[in-house]
Amino acid sequence: MSATSSPTLSSLPTDPWRLVETRWDADANLLRETLFALGNGHIGTRGTYDEAWQGEPDASMEGTYVNGFYDTEAIRYPENAYGFARINEFMLNLPNAKGVEIAIDGERFSLAGGVIVAYERSLDFREGVLVRTVEWKSPAGRRVRIVAKRLVSLSRSAILAQSVAVTPLDADATVEFVTTLNSQVRGSEESFDPRLGSGASARALSTVETTATPGRSVLVSRTRNSGLTLRIETLAGVAGGSTPECTASEDGGVLSQRFRVVAKAGEAVTLEKMTAIVTSRDAPVSELAAQAAGALEGARAVGFEGLADEQRTRLAAFWEKADIEIEGDDALSQGLHFNLYHLFQSIGRDGRTNIAAKGLTGEGYEGHSFWDTEIYVLPVFLRTLPDLARAVLQHRIGYLDKARARARDLGHVRGALYPWRTITGEECSAYFPAGTAQYHINADIAFAIKQYVEATGDDTLLTDGGAELVFETARVWADLAHLVEDSYHIDEVTGPDEYTALVNNNFYTNVMAKTHVGFAAEVAGWMEREKPEAFAKLYERLDLTADEVAHWSDVSDRLRLPYDEARGIHAQDDAFLSRKVWDFAGTPAENYPLLLHYHPLVIYRHQVCKQADVVLALFLRGDLFPKAIKRRDFDYYEAITTHDSSLSTCIHSIIAAEVGLNERAYEFFMDTARMDIDNTHGNTFHGVHTAAMGGTWMSVVHGFAGLRALNGELHFAPTLPKAWSRYRFRLVDHGRTLEVAVSAAGVEFRLVEGEAIRLFHRGEPIDLSAAEPMRSVPLPRAFDRKPFKAVVFDLDGVITDTARFHHLAWKRLADTLNIGFDEDLAESLKGIDRRMSLRMILDKGGVTLEPAEFDRLADMKNVWYKELIGTMTRNDLLPGALETLKTVRAAGLKVGLASVSQNAPAILERLGIADMFDAVVDARLLKRGKPDPEIFLKAAAQLGVDPADCLGVEDAVAGVASIKGAGMPALGIGRSSVLTEADAVIPGLDAFVLSDYLA
Ligand code: BG6
Ligand code: MG
Repeated sequence: MSATSSPTLSSLPTDPWRLVETRWDADANLLRETLFALGNGHIGTRGTYDEAWQGEPDASMEGTYVNGFYDTEAIRYPENAYGFARINEFMLNLPNAKGVEIAIDGERFSLAGGVIVAYERSLDFREGVLVRTVEWKSPAGRRVRIVAKRLVSLSRSAILAQSVAVTPLDADATVEFVTTLNSQVRGSEESFDPRLGSGASARALSTVETTATPGRSVLVSRTRNSGLTLRIETLAGVAGGSTPECTASEDGGVLSQRFRVVAKAGEAVTLEKMTAIVTSRDAPVSELAAQAAGALEGARAVGFEGLADEQRTRLAAFWEKADIEIEGDDALSQGLHFNLYHLFQSIGRDGRTNIAAKGLTGEGYEGHSFWDTEIYVLPVFLRTLPDLARAVLQHRIGYLDKARARARDLGHVRGALYPWRTITGEECSAYFPAGTAQYHINADIAFAIKQYVEATGDDTLLTDGGAELVFETARVWADLAHLVEDSYHIDEVTGPDEYTALVNNNFYTNVMAKTHVGFAAEVAGWMEREKPEAFAKLYERLDLTADEVAHWSDVSDRLRLPYDEARGIHAQDDAFLSRKVWDFAGTPAENYPLLLHYHPLVIYRHQVCKQADVVLALFLRGDLFPKAIKRRDFDYYEAITTHDSSLSTCIHSIIAAEVGLNERAYEFFMDTARMDIDNTHGNTFHGVHTAAMGGTWMSVVHGFAGLRALNGELHFAPTLPKAWSRYRFRLVDHGRTLEVAVSAAGVEFRLVEGEAIRLFHRGEPIDLSAAEPMRSVPLPRAFDRKPFKAVVFDLDGVITDTARFHHLAWKRLADTLNIGFDEDLAESLKGIDRRMSLRMILDKGGVTLEPAEFDRLADMKNVWYKELIGTMTRNDLLPGALETLKTVRAAGLKVGLASVSQNAPAILERLGIADMFDAVVDARLLKRGKPDPEIFLKAAAQLGVDPADCLGVEDAVAGVASIKGAGMPALGIGRSSVLTEADAVIPGLDAFVLSDYLA
């Protein structure tokens, strides 16, 4: 399915480093307020104008938020049931401290009146300052230039700062600034769309204290139910022009500072306004006044420009690690930079806060955080600023007790269950089938902890509560998992795909639970060995036993991962594949997203996915599944996925890239990369999509560059999308910084700083060190697909692993002759017939033999060899071999065998696959073995197919030479650095996807 897109609003100019708006566009205002939002992980504020909005009231949504500052409301269920989520936490829209009204000779500035002569609003992602420059002619004809700047300090968590410069252009003028702090908050409207807010902000805050003295305003408020206190304090002053008059006032909940100054024509008068926002989530109420005053003092001392300098420095450090450069596509670069910038603005840094689904840019999803954090956002920070990833995980650990309590609600006598959506650890999901039932959140958090430890080597996270979290959350899986015959089942959960609910053995959930309990057992083992004291304490406190840990391993080993033999694909759950497939052809475009047009039951009854589920598991635990199955899974699930969730296309992009569907990968990527800038999901005005933003980074690094971290090692498999000339990104691993640059010339791996490292490019080791920091490798050649009529396979090392038996037998022989037998010799013998092989070994040792002795040794080797293969059965087929033969035959292609082994026919019998070959070359009749082309030519002749219409498959250098000599394209099995002549190389037939070769 291709992603559905809603109409987009007029697009902004393309600039890789800036978001720029060149005209005032009232219709796009709500959206732009989101895009131009600023934040620092603590404070977030929408890009509303300083002066009050004069357009349609619904076209603007004033919003300032503090991460984790919330109120609660009881959730009312007309039909209640035991254990339902009881209270909703919602992020509060705070009093607006940004107000700055301007009047020129008594005429109030407003974009809605007068004439806008020039207008530009921009946000440079390297500067972190929102700048609006307007040249305006008042209704009475006075011209002024207004330059309004705003920042939310990335270095001082409590500070929001503004600078507004007004220059009369024609004549001296009286300029009036009225800066306001407005306690009258409007909440977002209640909405039918479940993804939006509940509209409760407006009722939640009450004023406790106000002060308005010239230049300074203070507002203290308290939340109604959560009992939190908020202090907002502003300081303002004017520079330039005549000595300003300043008066303070308070009226109807609005605290104002009025400045009046006479400005000379052509000379600017500038108002600086600093705001500190502190809450009782950060410090005791009694300390808030001192905290705010201290923050303001510090900010005023450096001034707006000083803060702007700090901003630049902080962002330079961020981009130094996080920049992704794409040459040849500015629109894309802009999308990427914008996304990364917003992630950096939104993520909590204090160890007590998370990143909300919409960041700090709007009230969609009420400021809740979901699994988006661990699966979509943390992967970015893990590889750029790992300390931030740690802080967020630490925050999850902080809510372990609430998760324990929640597990009890759900009937688990032990363990912890994290909430599906929350601000401070309470389950806030009122719709349990798509909320609480998504137990995978537990495994997602544990997975992020595992990833963090493996990427950084920082195991203190485990001893600082991480291990406890991993154990406690693992207990819930152990509790749910029950044995059915020989495998464990997990029933009645919901996976990531929210168009399917309450199922048995959701594939994603089980893959992640398997990973989770396996990791828990590993951590227990590690801790017992390495941190025995801490372990003993934890053991006792959690009442853990060795049996329980052993049980985790057992569950991990035997958890059911549903697979459908007939289709050769994973089943999303036990019942999924027997449901009716959704009628996509009969669904009009305007009925997407389905969730807004069909009752959940209608959707649940069908095979239709909102988002990646099986496909996501293929990415996160790709090491568990062969590529051929991944490809079939992708094809199947992609066809029934609507991508109605913004979390979907990025993951499909990653797997499309892995299974060789490069163009699809690119299309999916493009759907994600500019999702918010272009408003492709049609709801960005309620906030940005942080998960998709993380997903864009993942699509480049894990998708196009193919990064997978396996057991702490970095594996890459880069490809270059057609539209790009080059891309480059950096990556942090165990404290070192790496750089990867990909262009048509190849892949450059560079160690920017830190210790030497071995990484892998398509399985080949690449060593980087301070002495040799750079290595280049070519990109794999693209395979020219052809309408093949036959595939001719080698046997040893391709279909069955007898290559190692040949190796053993030859080594034994060489040993008896005292001839050194090394890896190079072994490799050169692959594919070579028996007598030739013996000759090569003797040559190596400088030994000459009588013909009779030569024959005796050749026979002896064969006797040993036959002993080794004597016990072979069907189980000795290499992974993917049987599937491959079936696939090739099912596609109507002929199958040939070209092995120089005289034992080949017997082995085919033993493997039970003799009848799958249309031709087997009799090795005894060959005049010349490999690398001579004779054998592949004979196979083609026996099949009655032109050699050029055959694909040859080989694991040996000599074999590839033979195939090429016969005029066939060669598919190598093994390593590309060894099989350099092959047209394509895959590690094994389990990675064989026929459509990669067949036109
Ligand atoms: C090839 C193997 O397939 O067969 C070689 O790769 C081996 O290692 C050759 O020497 C001959 O095998 P056999 O069974 O005839 O000795
Ligand atoms: Mg071979």
